Amino acid sequence: MRSISVIFAVLVANMWAVSATVQWKDSISRFSTDLLRKKYRNQQTDKFSTIMNRIKPALGKDPTENPLFVELPMDHFSADNTDTISCRYFVQDAYYKPGGPVIFHDIGEASIGPYAKGLVDEDEFSVSIAKRFNGLLILFEHRFYGLSAPTTSVSQDLGKASRRGLTEFFKYHTIEQALEDVVYFATNFSYDLEEYPKQDLTPSKTPWVWIGVSYSGARGAWMAKRNPGLFRATLASSAPVQLQVNFWEYFTAIEDALLVRNKNCSEDLRAAARWLSDAWEKRDHSIVDQLIDAVYEREWEEMLEQYDPESEEVWDIRKDYLQDAAWTPFADFQYYGVNGGTLGLFCDIMETQYTDGGDPDGVFATEPLERAVTAYAKAVAAISPYSYTSSRQRSQSRNKEKRQFSTGSLDSKLDDYSWLWQVCTEFGAFQVANTSRPENLLPSFINVQSQIDSCIGTFGESNQVSQAGPNVEPINEKYQGWYVQLSNTLWTNGEWDPWRALSVDSEEEDAPKNDTATTDIPQCGRTFAAGTQLRYVIKDGYHGSEFSEDVSTDSPGNLDGLDPTNTIRSLTATRTRTRTAMTGTPVVDAVNAQNLWFSAMSSWLPCTTLEFDPSGAETTTSAPFTSRAPFQTDSSNNAAETTRGSSGNGGDKNAASSLVVPSLIIPFFVSVFAFMAGIRVVVI
Ligand SMILES: *[C@@H]1O[C@H](CO)[C@@H](O)[C@H](O)[C@H]1NC(C)=O
Ligand SMILES: *[C@@H]1O[C@H](CO)[C@@H](O)[C@H](O)[C@H]1NC(C)=O
Ligand SMILES: *[C@@H]1O[C@H](CO)[C@@H](O)[C@H](O)[C@H]1NC(C)=O
Ligand SMILES: *[C@@H]1O[C@H](CO)[C@@H](O)[C@H](O)[C@H]1NC(C)=O
Repeated sequence: MRSISVIFAVLVANMWAVSATVQWKDSISRFSTDLLRKKYRNQQTDKFSTIMNRIKPALGKDPTENPLFVELPMDHFSADNTDTISCRYFVQDAYYKPGGPVIFHDIGEASIGPYAKGLVDEDEFSVSIAKRFNGLLILFEHRFYGLSAPTTSVSQDLGKASRRGLTEFFKYHTIEQALEDVVYFATNFSYDLEEYPKQDLTPSKTPWVWIGVSYSGARGAWMAKRNPGLFRATLASSAPVQLQVNFWEYFTAIEDALLVRNKNCSEDLRAAARWLSDAWEKRDHSIVDQLIDAVYEREWEEMLEQYDPESEEVWDIRKDYLQDAAWTPFADFQYYGVNGGTLGLFCDIMETQYTDGGDPDGVFATEPLERAVTAYAKAVAAISPYSYTSSRQRSQSRNKEKRQFSTGSLDSKLDDYSWLWQVCTEFGAFQVANTSRPENLLPSFINVQSQIDSCIGTFGESNQVSQAGPNVEPINEKYQGWYVQLSNTLWTNGEWDPWRALSVDSEEEDAPKNDTATTDIPQCGRTFAAGTQLRYVIKDGYHGSEFSEDVSTDSPGNLDGLDPTNTIRSLTATRTRTRTAMTGTPVVDAVNAQNLWFSAMSSWLPCTTLEFDPSGAETTTSAPFTSRAPFQTDSSNNAAETTRGSSGNGGDKNAASSLVVPSLIIPFFVSVFAFMAGIRVVVI
């Protein structure tokens, strides 16, 4: 009896977490996907470097052997609280020469451990910036990620912590506190340079430059607005600055991409979403259970032995499995698109299950439902890192992984909990179905209400987590969302990046229409015309493509050698996603974004017209949380929820009903290597 309940507990915990972490985390880990991309391309072309083999003895000591820590106030906005938090950073000083800038590479929602390996790779974009500009490169860890969190009984074993314990632990994990960390860090920064006499490296004497992708790109933009002049230049790459709770638009880029070459797969994924929604609403588990069994095998069979298949509890468990299945094809689209990633592999397996070339109409239109679902299940099983096959592979590589990225005495799941906290409290961007659209690719039970329930299931209800959903408004208001206007900032986006829908280069219906993109860099002392900003959409690009592509030309430069009025006039910023060629990897156009940035830096660094303004550092609290009404969900999208209580009544009851074993519902560590193992199953 005892052992049975343990199996059950572990499984439920794991599966719930799949839905909580895989689909929300904007970066499974950019570093790891970069590496995978390089490995993939190596197989195709046999020609490029990887970070692992680029360690240059000439550079001297490896900065990763020397992690540094800075002590920061836990609560910047109250003098009463004297607690501190210690944040980790690495410094690459091999390229620094007096007069050079500080390059602040913000990693955002992840441990910097894996990224640190890149500090010795001269083909890495960040390192090449330091090299060109004689800069001091800093890799900074955001509070509550990696090793940058207090060691407490909560952070040492997150799975055992109570909801109240977790809420208390993450209380100061807010966008504003984390921005102020950087202000404090920069204005107090000093560094011992062995070769040179003491330099004043604070922003008042040395130009600081922000580079970041995704959440850290948005942080760069917010910082430029919040503390103008603290950073002399900002690269906001793939920055989702328009926060919104319901982010169904994430899928529009995927829909467009599928239509280009995989029309049959597009039809099938829509049909699968319709079938799953329908089965869920009618509580018809006959074929659903065949799907779950085919993918998750023994784990699921053991579960069924314990429970009545008709019970609501089992429907909750089914939902977790089905969420994983439904999300699986799209899991890495934002890095690789269709042909380079899991979606292409998925489509190939599903479409060629019964005929070699695939039927143009797809399997759901041409085969009986059971056979169509079998094809779908085979494709999911081959790709999902949580399928029975993949999880067996994962357990084999688990020990190796642990050795590679040590988390010290902190729980290795910290990054996942930490991002989930941010998503649930302030960031939002739930990647959900919109079943009123014929193009919809996800089943109806992946909706905002179920995501809010998951937040409450993990953290309980508090001022920060409630039925009102993530409180995105204060940050949007303070920083003006996608209407923000910034000087000395380059915005880049990938043409096919799903996150582009929340950026200044969004194509969504309600996105700004009164603004202009330019690639003409204003000279020192000149500003953009109103509504005009330096923006570049990378053709055939994805999430942070200019960071993931190696820098091709290796000509080192310095401030004297570069023309500060340089502009790249041959480039044109595009706005509309072209439904033509999907070239997959490599992203050739990324080099233009890289060069535009080099030119912008050489124009802006020597320019001192922007005064450093440390004010504006006041907090944006998300209060009052408690008086916010429950999040309004679209009823047409939420038919499935009616059996479970609508969002408007009895928040507690509703949340509880979706939680099988509340205290055990914890995010599961999404190992990037597990993810890669899942892909290897197919590739080899
Ligand atoms: C560090 O920076 C903060 C914020 O800019 C400032 O208030 C504080 O006095 C600085 N501390 C030291 C030791 O310089
Ligand atoms: C059908 O799908 C397969 C596999 O993804 C693809 O190779 C083929 O081109 C597709 N055919 C059509 C007509 O869409
Ligand atoms: C564009 O419109 C928005 C919303 O009406 C407004 O806040 C913003 O200031 C406008 N921007 C420009 C450059 O006119
Ligand atoms: C679904 O998409 C339509 C546009 O096709 C949009 O008007 C509607 O607001 C979306 N529904 C939700 C719940 O966001």
